[in-house]
Amino acid sequence: MTTDHKAILSFTDGTPSVEFPMLKGTTGPDVIDIRKLYAQTGKFTYDTGFLSTASCDSTITYIDGDKGQLLYRGYPIEQLAVNCSFLEVCYLLYYGELPPESEFKEFEQLVIHHTMVHEQMQFAMRGFRRDSHPMAILTSLVGSMAAFYPDSLDINSPEQQDISFVRLIAKMPTMVAMSYKYSIGQPYIYPKNSLDYASNFMHMMFATPCEEYTPNPVLVRAMDRIFTLHADHEQNASTSTVRLCGSSGTSPFSAIAAGVACLWGPAHGGANQACLEMLEQIQAEGGLAKVGEFMERVKDKNSGARLMGFGHRVYKNFDPRAKLMQETCREVLDELGLGNDPIFKLAMALEKIALEDDYFVQRKLYPNVDFYSGIVQRALGIPTSMFTCIFALARTIGWVAQWKEMITDPEYKIGRPRQLYTGHPERAVHGKRSRA
Ligand code: SDX
Repeated sequence: MTTDHKAILSFTDGTPSVEFPMLKGTTGPDVIDIRKLYAQTGKFTYDTGFLSTASCDSTITYIDGDKGQLLYRGYPIEQLAVNCSFLEVCYLLYYGELPPESEFKEFEQLVIHHTMVHEQMQFAMRGFRRDSHPMAILTSLVGSMAAFYPDSLDINSPEQQDISFVRLIAKMPTMVAMSYKYSIGQPYIYPKNSLDYASNFMHMMFATPCEEYTPNPVLVRAMDRIFTLHADHEQNASTSTVRLCGSSGTSPFSAIAAGVACLWGPAHGGANQACLEMLEQIQAEGGLAKVGEFMERVKDKNSGARLMGFGHRVYKNFDPRAKLMQETCREVLDELGLGNDPIFKLAMALEKIALEDDYFVQRKLYPNVDFYSGIVQRALGIPTSMFTCIFALARTIGWVAQWKEMITDPEYKIGRPRQLYTGHPERAVHGKRSRA
């Protein structure tokens, strides 16, 4: 990582200039190592939103926002989404290599045999209102894993790290399906060990005790691909939350629960729900005839309207996942005979208009992963309120892999940013204001 180059910082306030080493990664922007800045100058950097800050070094995922490139452990997302199953991608993200066939079969069986949750978990659910948002329930269920699995809380034990990894990716589909079943008043469906990962999830979501349910293989493949497309995305808001939370040494279940909570926000993982609600609202207001009016509102800063599913902090080109999601969307709609779905047609019209509109072109706003994911999930029968739960299910592997990378880094420290204080200078409390 080290290079011969340095960054020299000089000041006009009399502070002596200082030099910082420049570090170079495998690819992507070089970084200025400013870890000694405060000790050498008594000054902080200031970067709210972390627009120019690398919070760590990582070997897991690389994004080139200008090229629209996304690599998991060096493999392009376009190749993984077409050639690998989500569970193979989980193995890749956690262990660093795609699994040999024999090892994958063993890994798959290990995950399958951890898909049931503790039987008491259903009683933790009973306290929730039936109309609770599934993400509120899921945040609690993931956090409760620290209570149900106290035998894997030692973050310094490689064996306990690995069993927590398996428990999290194995039980997320079960907990997501339980959150859904609870919200519609149906009985929970236990996992079936004869089914693959995505089939098992769809079975737990849509089967009932009253009749056989056989998932459509085209829809299962689409579900599996949706998981892969959402698996990891370097230091996004929820992953950074997991790293910061996990840096205190708390359990992986608690750190991942913090990630679930962060993902729920509409600026982040909640955008898929917000995007479909936006499309349905435009459709209700008149559909394509109303698109121009809506776009004018989006461009009017005072309206507060945003084209949900568009824009990205890193991608200033097409989000490669959006293209793959659009293909998956078309496959699913064709399989279901919904090729003329008005919402899909509206989304494609919006995308075309936005890509030709100066406001979006100047700001390099392109469709992101959330723009089509809501349409395809709705076609798969997943209710809008569950979209972000699906995102959380898939992103769990990214969160766990990044958490593992952090806690096994011998140089890691608890994260503790500083601030620019702009409050009152010291002042005195006059007189006694309350009786002690
Ligand atoms: C995800 O970080 C990740 O990797 C996240 C993610 C992952 O896999 O983990 O990729 C998943 O969160 C995807 C993003 C989902 N969010 C949305 O689709 C919500 C809509 N998009 C935005 O709110 C916004 O684009 C963000 C939050 C995604 C990015 O915000 P930034 O980088 O802080 O950019 P910004 O808000 O400063 O916008 C730059 C300009 C602004 O205009 P100006 O002040 O320069 O005039 O673009 C405008 C913004 O007003 N803008 C939009 C817009 N997004 C940005 N205007 C209209 N519609 C939008 N969607």
